[in-house]
Amino acid sequence: MNVHDSEQMAQILSDAGYVKTDKADRADVIIVNTCSVREKAAQKAYSQLGRLKKLREKRPGLVIGVAGCLAQEHGAGFFRRAPYLDLVLGTHNIHRLPGIIEEINNAGSRVVDTSFRESVRSLGIRTLPPDGDVSAYVTIMQGCNNFCSYCIVPYVRGREESRASGEIVDEIRFLADNGIREVTLLGQNVNSYGSTLSGDTSFPALLRMIGKIEGIDRIRFTTSHPKDLSEELAVCFADLDNLCEHIHLPVQSGSDHVLKRMKRGYTAGEYLKKIDMLRNACPDITITSDIIVGFPGEKDSDFQKTIDLMKEVRFDNTFSFKYSDRHGTASEGYDGKVEEGVKGERLSELQLLQESHSLEKNRGLEGTVKDVLIEGVSKNNDTDVTGRTRGNKIVNLAGDTGLTGKTVRVRIAQAYVHSLRGEIIQGEKCL
Ligand code: 5AD
Ligand code: SF4
Repeated sequence: MNVHDSEQMAQILSDAGYVKTDKADRADVIIVNTCSVREKAAQKAYSQLGRLKKLREKRPGLVIGVAGCLAQEHGAGFFRRAPYLDLVLGTHNIHRLPGIIEEINNAGSRVVDTSFRESVRSLGIRTLPPDGDVSAYVTIMQGCNNFCSYCIVPYVRGREESRASGEIVDEIRFLADNGIREVTLLGQNVNSYGSTLSGDTSFPALLRMIGKIEGIDRIRFTTSHPKDLSEELAVCFADLDNLCEHIHLPVQSGSDHVLKRMKRGYTAGEYLKKIDMLRNACPDITITSDIIVGFPGEKDSDFQKTIDLMKEVRFDNTFSFKYSDRHGTASEGYDGKVEEGVKGERLSELQLLQESHSLEKNRGLEGTVKDVLIEGVSKNNDTDVTGRTRGNKIVNLAGDTGLTGKTVRVRIAQAYVHSLRGEIIQGEKCL
């Protein structure tokens, strides 16, 4: 989501006549987009800002701003931490960026804009990825009403707001007309899409509309909340040819006691039933998840339940995090805080288990033939290209940049923990 916010800021600045540069010391404007969902992400943003201080000393005319969740959280307080900043821009005000920069340049004053708006205008900023790219993000909703007890998102992104389905469909048609073949629909909780709209467009209904758009071969979405995952959505995986067989379904914990304190709204048993429902509709679906270890009050026996759930589901991949207090959230005040050392041990154990599951899942693909959408030259080896299966598995194969944006038939030859190695099947057309 943050990547797409950065793309939107780049787009409106470019529409206002600014030109992109990769060299920070040549820039007239630098905006650091930030995430505050976990302590580690926030620390990264602070050190990035620290590095810009020296640039500011060298070039007094440079405008330096901070945007995103951390900006929303701290507001004017950011100036105490980083006095060389000119701008603190909240999550609802991206569309105001060019006007604010002009204000700073003309008046020479600092600006803070962290006001929340009834209707988030940035939702409608259309971006077109660089020439040659075939994948794009499309925001379908923003904010969140769930208030999971550990999560800062509802405070820094505001209440849930869905974009009108017609506007989303128009944007995707525009992207398809401009060469985009794959769209990823973005929202904090896509399964509750439409609940703030007066019509009755549900997320599955939206997917069916997008499924009909000529030229879009692959549809992905993130993130789904398990409590709102419906049978209608599961059926879409079976019915829609262009809906990719992958779902990211954060479980967070396998212990009912912890899930209750997290205010997640489901039990481990209910989560497992949703997994069954998805696998019944689409047996080969890739399932990934997020897990937090060391939530306040998590005992060894709770953690063991998370391990048991992982063994039962056998996720293709998980993103796992040590719990960190976020300012203003309910769990900040919970008792039973878990020691850092214990969190570290639990995280290592969980990640080791996940590696074995990821490898097991990937080995199951050896010898199969998959459609792979090539994204570009591999970062590790310039005689290889890298792409993804519909199930979102990374595949490396011999090839050159001419394959970028093409979908090729690939036989999977070798499985690793985080990727697959394959060979193109010459002369075979993709389905
Ligand atoms: N501590 C640790 N992890 C967190 N996440 C969200 N808030 C916290 C927190 N306070 C994780 C959740 C979520 C992912 C985006 O970040 O797993 O799904
Ligand atoms: Fe945060 Fe929960 Fe909303 Fe996800 S659903 S953004 S974890 S409050």
